[in-house]
Amino acid sequence: MNPLASLRGRHITIVEVGPRDGLQNEQAAVSTADKIAFVNRLSAANLPAIEVSAFVSPTWVPQMADAADVFAGIARRPGIRYTALVPNLAGLDRALGAGVSEIAVFAASTETFSRKNINQSIDDSLATYQQVCDRARGAGLRVRGYLSTAFGCPYEGDVAPQRVAELAERLLALGVFEVAISDTIGLAHPGQVPPLLDTLLTRMPVEQIALHFHDTRGTALANVLAALPFGVTTFDASAGGLGGCPYAPGAAGNLATDDLVYMLNGLGVETGVSLPALSEASAFIASRIDHPLPSRYAQASAAQRGSQKAKVKRQAP
Ligand code: HMG
Ligand code: MG
Repeated sequence: MNPLASLRGRHITIVEVGPRDGLQNEQAAVSTADKIAFVNRLSAANLPAIEVSAFVSPTWVPQMADAADVFAGIARRPGIRYTALVPNLAGLDRALGAGVSEIAVFAASTETFSRKNINQSIDDSLATYQQVCDRARGAGLRVRGYLSTAFGCPYEGDVAPQRVAELAERLLALGVFEVAISDTIGLAHPGQVPPLLDTLLTRMPVEQIALHFHDTRGTALANVLAALPFGVTTFDASAGGLGGCPYAPGAAGNLATDDLVYMLNGLGVETGVSLPALSEASAFIASRIDHPLPSRYAQASAAQRGSQKAKVKRQAP
């Protein structure tokens, strides 16, 4: 008996976070025009949701200072959600000005990370987000919630599943449509995922849970595989595995979208994403940063392209 056969035909929504979570942590200065070209390539790959940028303080995260210009330049395709992070009402005003129709607020499971990331306690941040959600939803926007350090914190260590569930419930009570349970620095492993999901599912429906893995320790794909039998249908990932978090030392890139789509295709799980077009988007952004992308699929594709080029050269008269 094949225990994975029941996954065949299921549909998974991938939230592409490369332009935000990926580029926020790159040292190379990626131009606004290249960010726009990257998002347009991701749209061509038919990613259903793309986190384009963040309306955060440009002092805190200079890489996202051009959020409004990126939104102004991209070609928005019908049916694709183009989203952005918003930390406060000032960020919401900027997002509304840029014509954004879906935003995400981001809280943490641990006090130290909350203060380092957004300069507020968890309680204060939830009070801010209540105002952001009320005004955003009043203006017709959808709001997603992130819950960082849910599998462990770089400053405080282990985090109890009950604490994660309590904070996820508080985020949902603000009016967010789903909570992305986030492994900020890529600590999670498949031994941790089922017990956390068991705890969360006693307090919220699976439709309101998304998972956001970083791949620092090489366990992100395995974590997805551990979560699929629970019926989780939304996973975040970044093209080529770009990424990290400027306020989380040691955080490497997100789970690579390329690797995720390759695995899901193999399992017969539908995503609607074109892997060849996604590979082009990854190759494009790889050419604009100063290091190779960590995605194994992207590396294999690049090697294959290289050997095909060499073959053509050898065959040329
Ligand atoms: P603060 O310094 O406490 O803010 O930062 P403030 O309210 O005191 O304002 C200070 C100055 O910033 C003022 O300007 C404000 O106008 C301005 P001044 O009067 O000095 O000229 N300001 C803004 N400017 C533009 N846009 C805004 C904005 N807000 C204030 N939205 C703040 C507090 C929350 C703003 C800051 O800490 C911040 O922007 N933090 C964001 C950090 C961040 O983006 N981290 C990475 C994203 S989270 C992540 O990666 C995790 C995730 O991927 C999930 C996971 O993996 O765990 C989502
Ligand atoms: Mg992240």
